[in-house]
Amino acid sequence: MTDHQHHTPGGTEESTAAQLWDERYRSRPKVWSGRPNPQLVAEASGLKPGHALDLGCGEGADALWLASRGWTVTALDVSAVALERAAAHARGTGHDSNIKWVEQDLGTWVPEEQYELVSAQFLHSTLLPWQQALRLAAAAVRIGGTLLIVGHHPEGLPAWGNHQSAEKYFTAEEVARELGIEAPEWHLDVLDSRRRSATGPDGEPAELTDAVLRATRLAEH
Ligand SMILES: C[S@@+](CC[C@H](N)C(=O)[O-])C[C@H]1O[C@@H](n2cnc3c(N)ncnc32)[C@H](O)[C@@H]1O
Repeated sequence: MTDHQHHTPGGTEESTAAQLWDERYRSRPKVWSGRPNPQLVAEASGLKPGHALDLGCGEGADALWLASRGWTVTALDVSAVALERAAAHARGTGHDSNIKWVEQDLGTWVPEEQYELVSAQFLHSTLLPWQQALRLAAAAVRIGGTLLIVGHHPEGLPAWGNHQSAEKYFTAEEVARELGIEAPEWHLDVLDSRRRSATGPDGEPAELTDAVLRATRLAEH
């Protein structure tokens, strides 16, 4: 047994999020495109840079894009394999000194700081309920700051990979309801589902739908 395994009360062992995601990342030299997510570019290009938190940053393309736009970035992921890859990608770009890579399981994380932007892009996991993860994201937004949540819409899922378990996915409306994104604490800027063309891991063309929520925090709870 390694330190990364849980013992359940029955004595059996379960894989942790770190093990599952490390395995996924190790299965290919590169899992994601290396380009920033299109809804991040669409929604964050007009924001004044400050300190951003990228939750579930994966191979780091969003964090690097934010840093290139003048943001100081904390980029958090449970997978050490993904983070090593992200840091290697960032080295030599001139922006990596503005990114802090943090290895952390959101299942045991409490935000200690607040940020001008918190971005959660496709933070879908069988081991971490989206309700829990996205509540943490909202809690980390400073007054005047922006919450940006993007996920696969349940009716526009990719045909590749492990996208079968419906409970991992959400609409923007479900997120707003679950997190209580409403006045007087929040101003809802964007609540949308957006169809887009994408390319799968083996180069296959696909049409996907993104659930997009962007909100500005106006006050603490
Ligand atoms: C579908 S990927 C998205 C990666 C990146 N945001 C992107 O859009 O390319 C989900 C990411 O969330 C991370 N993740 C999953 N469960 C997590 C957890 N419990 N704590 C922290 N990160 C987690 C995974 O390691 C993975 O990098």
